[in-house]
Order: sequence, then structure tokens, then C-alpha cells
Amino acid sequence: MIEIRGLTKRYGKLTAVDNLWLTVERGDALGFIGPNGAGKTTTIRMLATLLAPDAGTARVGGHDIRKEPAGVRAMVGYMPDFFGVYDDMMVWEYLDFFAAAHRVPRSQRPRLIGDVLELTDLGSRRDESVNSLSRGMKQRLCLAKTLVHDPEVLLLDEPASGLDPRARMEVRELLRELCKLEKTLLISSHILPELAGLCNKIAIIEEGRLVTAGSVDEISAQLQGGTRLVVELCERSAEACEFLAALESVASAVEGDGRIEAVYQGPEGDEHEVLRALVLEGFKVRGFREEEIDLETIYVRSTQGLGS
Ligand SMILES: Nc1ncnc2c1ncn2[C@@H]1O[C@H](COP(=O)(O)OP(=O)(O)O)[C@@H](O)[C@H]1O
Ligand SMILES: [Mg+2]
Repeated sequence: MIEIRGLTKRYGKLTAVDNLWLTVERGDALGFIGPNGAGKTTTIRMLATLLAPDAGTARVGGHDIRKEPAGVRAMVGYMPDFFGVYDDMMVWEYLDFFAAAHRVPRSQRPRLIGDVLELTDLGSRRDESVNSLSRGMKQRLCLAKTLVHDPEVLLLDEPASGLDPRARMEVRELLRELCKLEKTLLISSHILPELAGLCNKIAIIEEGRLVTAGSVDEISAQLQGGTRLVVELCERSAEACEFLAALESVASAVEGDGRIEAVYQGPEGDEHEVLRALVLEGFKVRGFREEEIDLETIYVRSTQGLGS
């Protein structure tokens, strides 16, 4: 749905986005993660056709951002990292304005606006001034605006930044709802836990360059050199550790704290064969599981040594 091919943007001597290649499939929720100044906003603005690349290009839903910007805009809902100034409008007027800008026929607008207000939990604020809304509500209104032409692709630039914890949680809930609508999402953040549990894919960018990208599972496997297994035994732990380390499918095994941590490098999905081997050998296995690696750990490991 989004195909970024060698995208590059320079500001004078600074290369803000440096030969970026990235693919986002239909229905994916991609967490676009990187510290401040990494080039996230610049990338997203290029995808939204608001900024011209210096080199490379991207296709959104098959439309080239350089050659067919109108086609791209029709498909994309873009939520900028700051809220625009339309403060003297009422909530419904604000949404009506953007629906009109996207050429949504007048007859369809009331229903669409009703739908997005309901989704963003702003139905009761329909006739209030945008000005009167709290920061969190404004952020949700901004999301509502992004949805008003029912785009297939959502580009959300730091949707929860600058919010208090409660409003952050509300935005997260809303994003979760959006994931269920089978839209393709690209969500940027410099705060990793914000996207944990929300995205199925992540891409990490630093100093304009892609550090790593893939599914959360793929990246964790790549970073730890295989699937990490945690095995607990009733007895003979040291012996079992030696046995595991000698298996062909196990790259390494270490024992400590009453458990064994092994790195599995055999065929994907065959991890249970390790358990079978242990049991057949007469070991009394009390626990056997794959260790989940969290996004935070992935991020720390993949950005180590980069940047300042
Ligand atoms: N209009 C601009 N003129 C000059 N430099 C810019 C401009 N916009 C962004 N930059 C620089 O480009 C780099 C990437 O910025 P940005 O895309 O906003 O990063 P992020 O969104 O990841 O924080 C930063 O070093 C920033 O200072
Ligand atoms: Mg930014």
C-alpha cells in the first residue's frame, strides 16, 4: 500500500531523509519510530505530497507521490504533528470544511461527520466551538478530520504527543479502533511504548536512515540471533543445559536463576521439537516457553551506537 523507494530530502547540507526504502502492506499498522530530528515528519510530509523529495519517490496505493499527487491525496488521511488554527469554528463546521475540501458530496457529509464524531467520542461536542475543546479533544478532532473522506491510508505524525497521560490513553484506544477498520496505518512516535501492542510492524529511523524494519517478531529474532527459549526443570538443570547446547537446532544455552535460556535456530515453528528431545531424554520439564522481547528492548538494541 505504501512503497518508499530511495526517498531523500536535504535541507542545505543536512540530509534529513537519506535514501529510505520501506514497504507497508495493506492492513499493516507500522510504527515509525525514531528520536526527535530523525526525519519522521519530513518523510510523512513527503508521503502526504506536501513536500517534494530531492531524490527517490514513493507510491501510495499505486499512485506516485511525484507524478500523481491528487491520486495520493484522495487515498491518504494525514494528521500533522501540530493542530492548525481554525479556532473560531464549531466542531461540525470544522469537519464539514475538510469534507468539502475533499469533495465529499454535501448530501453525504452529515452522515460521515456523525460517524467520525462517534468514533472519536466527540458526538456531544458537535455544536461547540473548537476553541472550547481540551488539548486531548482537539487531538481527537484532528484525527476525526483525518478520517472524514474515509481514506484507506492514515499517516499520523506523533498523534499522542504533548498530551497528558489520560488523553494519551484515549488516543491509543482510538488508534486501536482504527487498526480494526482495516486501514493501513503509519504512526510516528519518538516514544516507543506508545506504539507497543498497537503496531504489527515497526521501522526504526535515526539521522534520516533506516536502522531496521520488519514485523516485531522478525526484528526480535534478528536481533537476538534466533528465538529465545526459556526452559525450567524440576531437577538436573545443569545437565539439561549441556544437553540443549549440544542439539543441532540450538545455538547456545546458558543456565542461571533456576532456568535455562536457549537460543533456537532451527526451522520456525519446530521449537516444540526441543521440548520433545528433553522429555525423551528423561528430563522433568516444568516450564517451556518462548520469551517475548518487548519493543523497548528492540529499540535500544537496534539504535545502539548510532547518534550521539
Ligand atoms: N524546514 C526545514 N528546514 C531546515 N531543516 C529542517 C526543516 N525541517 C526539518 N529540518 C531538520 O531535518 C531533520 C529532520 O526533522 P524532522 O523530519 O522534523 O524529524 P522528526 O519528525 O523525526 O523529529 C532535523 O534535523 C530538522 O532540524
Ligand atoms: Mg516530527
